[in-house]
Amino acid sequence: MKLIIHGAAGRMGRALVRALENNGDFQLLYAVDPVLPVRALSQCRQKADCVIDFSHHSATKALLDYCLRTKTPVVVCTTGHTQAEHALLCRAAGQIPVFHSSNVSLGIALLTQLVSQTAQRFPDADITIIETHHSQKRDAPSGTALLLSQAIPSPRNISIHSVRRGTVAGIHRVIFTTESQTVTLQHEAHHRGLYAQGALTAAAWLTGQRPGLYSMKDLVV
Ligand SMILES: NC(=O)c1ccc[n+]([C@@H]2O[C@H](COP(=O)([O-])OP(=O)(O)OC[C@H]3O[C@@H](n4cnc5c(N)ncnc54)[C@H](O)[C@@H]3O)[C@@H](O)[C@H]2O)c1
Repeated sequence: MKLIIHGAAGRMGRALVRALENNGDFQLLYAVDPVLPVRALSQCRQKADCVIDFSHHSATKALLDYCLRTKTPVVVCTTGHTQAEHALLCRAAGQIPVFHSSNVSLGIALLTQLVSQTAQRFPDADITIIETHHSQKRDAPSGTALLLSQAIPSPRNISIHSVRRGTVAGIHRVIFTTESQTVTLQHEAHHRGLYAQGALTAAAWLTGQRPGLYSMKDLVV
């Protein structure tokens, strides 16, 4: 399967390139990044089976313009989209398969389900989400913290705290506090290879799909 990596020189782009080196099922067609020789998608002449995006949300329009023009499925792993950029993703999904998840790890997909269930069981609990990431992370709170908060039904008292330190790949802790007990659910990514593998799994799955907007919910049944 032929891939384009968008944002290939970043921390995640480089992790993805490393993951491809050990995976005969995928071929890297273009590594696109403003700091690389292939600076923009418009320079890509050969058609890929899928684009994987780990760049910056401000690149969303150019990314989707390319994917729509070339009818290429796209796995959008970038976080921090504005409402207008998210609307562009929804609109593009009318014509091409678009996969979008703020966190492509299986563990976070399961944590999201557990958070939803726990919130239903403890309707009076105060809910605290603490996300910790490396000090270079640009958006706060993390897309995953927002994803977890959206999994909690009904208006609730949720506080989200962001911690930035060192080289942490991603820790998400959700704490439910009632008058009589505390329940803590936590996921910790050990390295970025986790997300690289998740993106490749999503890309392999997406290329067989009809146009639509997909997420980890569709991948993890
Ligand atoms: N969905 C997930 O599971 C998941 C996991 C990790 C990170 N992320 C997200 O992926 C994104 C990238 O993370 P990172 O840690 O690699 O960031 P990073 O800052 O290390 O890398 C981003 C790269 O994108 C490039 N870039 C910026 N604008 C661009 C453009 N217009 N076109 C192409 N490339 C462009 C930059 O030059 C840089 O090399 C962030 O939004 C992050 O939150 C998502």
